[in-house]
Amino acid sequence: MAHIIGGIGIAHTPSMGMEYDRGRANGFDSRWGPWFEGLSPVRQWLERIRPTQLIVVYNDHLNHFDFDAYPTLAIGISSRFEQADEGWGRRPWPDMPGNPSFAIPLAEYLVRQSEFDLTVCQSLALDHGVYSWFPCLFDLPWKIPVTPIAVNMVRHPLPTSQRLARLGAEIRAAVQASDAGERVLVIATGGMSHQISGARFGISNQEFDQRFLKALPSEMDALMAIPQEDYMRYGGTEAAELSLWFAMRAALSPDAMPVYDHYTCPQITGCGVLAMTEPQFEQQSTKEQK
Ligand SMILES: [Fe+2]
Repeated sequence: MAHIIGGIGIAHTPSMGMEYDRGRANGFDSRWGPWFEGLSPVRQWLERIRPTQLIVVYNDHLNHFDFDAYPTLAIGISSRFEQADEGWGRRPWPDMPGNPSFAIPLAEYLVRQSEFDLTVCQSLALDHGVYSWFPCLFDLPWKIPVTPIAVNMVRHPLPTSQRLARLGAEIRAAVQASDAGERVLVIATGGMSHQISGARFGISNQEFDQRFLKALPSEMDALMAIPQEDYMRYGGTEAAELSLWFAMRAALSPDAMPVYDHYTCPQITGCGVLAMTEPQFEQQSTKEQK
């Protein structure tokens, strides 16, 4: 049986990726340094819990899909996922590994048992929704297979927070139904407060973001009761991406515990991370290391 051993919620922005590359070469500047330095405990935790599969719930930003056909939910099933060129060229990072042997049964369960209509993508170019933070958490060579699940956060109507929580719960059921002995980490990524267009361009709401980070582990229902329109009102239109984080929390058990969170707002987007663990697997991995 496969197990979900923990989860991560993390923000993404194009500038996060660019600043990471620049900072690795020349040192991080004073705005971005605290964000990258604050990710170190997550890296250390990942080394301790040793996931063998990553399910990444993210959103594309018109870099793979376009308005001709924008799926509400899609899953990537491939042995490699390339980086999308977002208009300024690809950053110097390799493709990410995938594992169809893990992803195909997951898709079969989600479509046939859970009745989630996922568009199956045999190729899926991943944009900054994944590539902006992934190199900050995982050292090269990237060996842990990634199964990306793309959620429409661009074209309205958007899937509701409740539906994304159900998706997370069904991911949990699908993993538990698997007889593969995998240690699965569920990562959900969505920008925190920000708005990249219109009269409110550049707004952020740090208090709102920090309340979300602290409340998600134990008060998800209260956060889901806030309409997505209010997330946009309080945190900018793109703050609706926070609803992806519900998929991560709902993929974990009620007993899951926060192990670390960190927040900064380097430029125009709130950057936060939350790592949560399933206590039984945290103890197990600690014991195995002794
Ligand atoms: Fe985004």
